[in-house]
Amino acid sequence: MATQLPTTDIRIGADLIRRRKGGTPIVCLTAYTYPIARLLDPHVDLLLVGDSVAMVLHGHETTLGASLEMMIAHGQAVMRGSARACVVVDMPAGTYEDSAAQAVASARRIVGETGCQAVKLEGGVDMAAQIAAIVAAGIPVMGHIGLQPQSVEKDGGYKIKGRTDENVAALIADALAVEKAGAFSLVIEGTIETVAADITGRIAIPTIGIGASSECDGQILVIDDMVGLTVDRVPKFVKQYADLRSVIAHAAERYASEVRDREFPGRAHVFSKTNGGDEA
Ligand code: KIV
Repeated sequence: MATQLPTTDIRIGADLIRRRKGGTPIVCLTAYTYPIARLLDPHVDLLLVGDSVAMVLHGHETTLGASLEMMIAHGQAVMRGSARACVVVDMPAGTYEDSAAQAVASARRIVGETGCQAVKLEGGVDMAAQIAAIVAAGIPVMGHIGLQPQSVEKDGGYKIKGRTDENVAALIADALAVEKAGAFSLVIEGTIETVAADITGRIAIPTIGIGASSECDGQILVIDDMVGLTVDRVPKFVKQYADLRSVIAHAAERYASEVRDREFPGRAHVFSKTNGGDEA
């Protein structure tokens, strides 16, 4: 039977995550739905309602398919399913880049309508004003630099960052700008190990790596990639801990065959006048 959620919210806040810098690695996963949040919550420090939901659950080609309404609906579901993890909701593309005022309005909507602990947005030096304004409005922000999925069309694909001196300098400038703007943590995605290590050593907020090595203060993966549910491309840096695609395919195959053979429903799954009671 599923574990009951505690009635009192004893969540890990952004401040507690910030204080974990340099300590036991911070465990993070994405979550988009109530049942998955319930399953993951006891095991992780932070749940990210990533805009990867647009690709993973909605079948869009990139994260640009995410909208504010989509993020809020999934954020509400994850909040209902979690009791202790710090829940962070991604700001989708087009809801924060134009101005600090636009960023604050979108972040207020996300936090106001979901009750999540923080928001995340992509960008470094170019988004420092937005991060500072959201933090000044009282909302904790997680930064995201390196490979930025919202920019893959502009970048010509999912490209690893930190291979040229110029790019390394830009990544370091981005990390310092995000820290100075007041973010409580920083996701570093798709970046070479030495650069992730260098950034982790330079800034006082925890770095959360995804394809950025164990030199980071914590790790995050997309849940569907990690449990083998993703049907499209899975990045090279993912370790698959389960193969749920095969489990589901086998279950569907058995169900189809039993329905066609009139094996299901069997005696245990039908009602008569005298058995089963009133409840379905
Ligand atoms: O949207 C997402 O899932 C993310 C993670 C990959 C960090 O931003």
